[in-house]
Amino acid sequence: MCKIHILGNWKMNHTQKELASFCEEINSKWSELSDKAAYGIAPQTLHLSTLKTKAPKGLLVGAQNCSDQESGAYTGETSAVALKDLSIDFTLTGHSERRQLYKESDEFINRKTKLALENGLTTVLCVGETLDERESGSTAGVVCHQIEAGLKDIEPNKKLLIAYEPVWAIGTGKTATPDMAQDVHAIIRQKLYDLGHDAASTPILYGGSVKPDNIEGLLECPDIDGALVGGASLKATDFLALCRAGGMRNA
Ligand code: 13P
Repeated sequence: MCKIHILGNWKMNHTQKELASFCEEINSKWSELSDKAAYGIAPQTLHLSTLKTKAPKGLLVGAQNCSDQESGAYTGETSAVALKDLSIDFTLTGHSERRQLYKESDEFINRKTKLALENGLTTVLCVGETLDERESGSTAGVVCHQIEAGLKDIEPNKKLLIAYEPVWAIGTGKTATPDMAQDVHAIIRQKLYDLGHDAASTPILYGGSVKPDNIEGLLECPDIDGALVGGASLKATDFLALCRAGGMRNA
């Protein structure tokens, strides 16, 4: 069984003050969490160092995105080398908001994913179908294509995680049911196996309107190894509740 990961994606939210009060609250409860699961937060890039300093030791701190290039004249980008240099623990790649709003292609996401892994960063490759794609019955095809293209020329790597985030469930309050999510997670695991990756030991996280009141059902599914959480990770009480649920699943 894979280690359960509960990761928060703060997106473009939280000021320094909000970050400080979040950290104060989680610091006071941190010792109550099971050490069998992994917990992490990806804040805005400019807050990475502050979160690293203020968060409990052991909370993984990650980037929401990184460049497809190591260094050079790429204004506004963040290098995987610099993230590693700051001891950042992980990065997301291929989040659907990057794919949709910033037109990131599979090839571009593949270069980022490869570079991040080559630089020793734990990398969470995000995949997921739109509502139209689900309704036209192409979920499996879309997700498998994103996995295959995103992992092109990438060797099996223990630092790789996948997040299945159906676009129609992100920020909408519409969660995939545990059965719907499990079906796609099983397809993803099979695809990883077919591509020669360590399928059984690659954590596959679910994301899309995960909340303290629906996480338990999702984590009961055999192929769901954690959650990538947006809105509900912003409040310390909710994030702690999600972490508790993750810790219980591993107990
Ligand atoms: P919500 O949990 O707000 O739906 O966001 C999910 C997500 O996009 C995490 O990366």
